[in-house]
Amino acid sequence: MFKLVNQHMKSLFVFTFLFAVIFGVFAQESASSFQGISRFATPAEVKAWDIDVRPDFKGLPKGSGSVEKGQEIWEGRCASCHGTFGESNSVFTPIVGGVTSKDIEIGRVASLTDPKQPQRTTFMKVATISSLYDYIYRAMPWNAPRSMSADDTFAVLAYLLNLVEIVPDDFTLSDQNIAEIQKKMPNRNGMTQDHGLWRLNDKPDVHAKACMNNCAQEVKVTSFLPDYARNAHGNLQDQNRIFGPYRGVDTTNGSPKSIPTSIASSVVAEKNQDPSVLFRSNTCAACHAQNTKIVGPSLESIKSKYATQANAIDTLSAKVKNGGSGVWGQIPMPANNLPDADIKKIVTWILTGH
Ligand code: HEC
Ligand code: HEC
Repeated sequence: MFKLVNQHMKSLFVFTFLFAVIFGVFAQESASSFQGISRFATPAEVKAWDIDVRPDFKGLPKGSGSVEKGQEIWEGRCASCHGTFGESNSVFTPIVGGVTSKDIEIGRVASLTDPKQPQRTTFMKVATISSLYDYIYRAMPWNAPRSMSADDTFAVLAYLLNLVEIVPDDFTLSDQNIAEIQKKMPNRNGMTQDHGLWRLNDKPDVHAKACMNNCAQEVKVTSFLPDYARNAHGNLQDQNRIFGPYRGVDTTNGSPKSIPTSIASSVVAEKNQDPSVLFRSNTCAACHAQNTKIVGPSLESIKSKYATQANAIDTLSAKVKNGGSGVWGQIPMPANNLPDADIKKIVTWILTGH
């Protein structure tokens, strides 16, 4: 037995050694063939990107936060978009609602199959608490992602769990007890691995034959949205991201004769000073569209409200810089951190078209 282990250790050692040598050679090679162009990511850089939290809680930072502290954070940094009790559907489907104490007990949410349930909330669907921690820490608040500490994230998550009545008012969530709370997630048994994605021998769920010869030279799109529906969400071209090959279709016109497939992205660099590009590259477009209200009012309605007002450019520039609410509704615009000159350029463009 001893001998066997010994033999095993020996080959492990040889393997590790060989691996180190080979890897070392490759690492050196890739460094030397692109001299002056790149460098290896530092451990600190890798650490800053490596923030995922897995269902087994690998990757979860140490920390804790109380329901009370979470309520404070929620009201200051989350409620404007998600509602005081996480129930608002103004920017996204509600986070809280549709869950009963029976669901928490059995781990399957009954209202998911109830046709009378108006909307599927986050807590109805999500099976793993790690996903919520990960998502909030990574992506929220929407207008300032990665701005919350681990403790803030534990606290605000504790508050959400309290709203769903999974934990009591005086609860403190931490890396030490989060695994216990996983056992109370209302839809924890709603996730299944009993399907094709997890069984290697299953058939795929789409069936298409790839064309291998005599294939059409040009792909012809044969169905389009009807004209009356094309512009339902404003001009898609204005809302498309400004990098990558696709510019999106101009939906203010009728059915297109052809779909533009690529426009060199170098155009973007040239147009950097163009106010419409400034508008899209400074997240304004996440909340404002040409003809439709998204989170904020449409550009058309801002224009018709202020175009003839004296001082409108200065007043609105100050408002964009500092944020604020109450003119178009209760949802606030957060402060926008970009140079004053750029703000003025965008506001002038909104009001005058150039
Ligand atoms: C400026 C508006 C805004 C603010 C402020 C905001 N959110 Fe969000 N939140 C959104 C939007 C929009 C989405 C959907 C994003 C998407 O799907 O890409 C979202 C999604 C979420 C989700 C995921 C829901 C799901 O089912 O996928 C959670 C959880 C969440 N937010 C929590 C928070 C928390 C906690 C805060 C405060 C720290 C916060 N949000 C602040 C706009 C906001
Ligand atoms: C997170 C969403 C969001 C972002 C990002 C955003 N806005 Fe707004 N914006 C709003 C909301 C909501 C209002 C309505 C505020 C109110 O009712 O007073 C608004 C209002 C405005 C107004 C009208 C203000 C008034 O007092 O009538 C202008 C102009 C404007 N935004 C321009 C911009 C520009 C330019 C940017 C980018 C630099 C931008 N917004 C980014 C949500 C946003």
